[in-house]
Amino acid sequence: MRHKILIGFMGSGKSAVSVKLAEMLGWKRLDTDARIEQEQGMTVSEIFRRFGEPAFRGMETRLLQRLAEEKEPLVISAGGGLAVQPQNREYLRKLGDVIWLQVRPETVLERLAEDTTRPLLQGADRKRRVESLLAAREPLYRAAADYSVDTDGSSPRQIAEEILRITEGGHI
Ligand code: S3P
Repeated sequence: MRHKILIGFMGSGKSAVSVKLAEMLGWKRLDTDARIEQEQGMTVSEIFRRFGEPAFRGMETRLLQRLAEEKEPLVISAGGGLAVQPQNREYLRKLGDVIWLQVRPETVLERLAEDTTRPLLQGADRKRRVESLLAAREPLYRAAADYSVDTDGSSPRQIAEEILRITEGGHI
């Protein structure tokens, strides 16, 4: 199934862009964090706290495997760590077009200044945490993606239009 999968760091705008892109394509959307929260009956933070990050990563991989069986194409926004797990790369590739939303650390810090829902960004020195995690992940996002889009300074609608242009070759 040729889904369109948005990957990238926390705060890169995957959810907002997926809403616009799904509207434009007339497709349904699926957010991996939201689906896991719904299935587990608890928030991502609670899952990390009660079961630990490796358990959450297992849930992500199992969800990816199931998405290959979907009959209708979906716009999928993937949690920020999903595409950087080596075991997920092959599944992602088989699911469809993988689009990396690139973002600068300054933008992430601005957007997530008040956020309390991302367990990996809690605690002291958020700036260093974002900078080092983003730097470590960038080559992995690049390796997982078929396409990349710069998001700094663009609206979700503009980014969704750019995604359509690059993945559909202007045929939509
Ligand atoms: C994570 C990103 C989050 C969520 C979890 C872990 C990550 O998703 O899956 O907190 O490892 O980058 P968003 O990218 O939607 O914030």
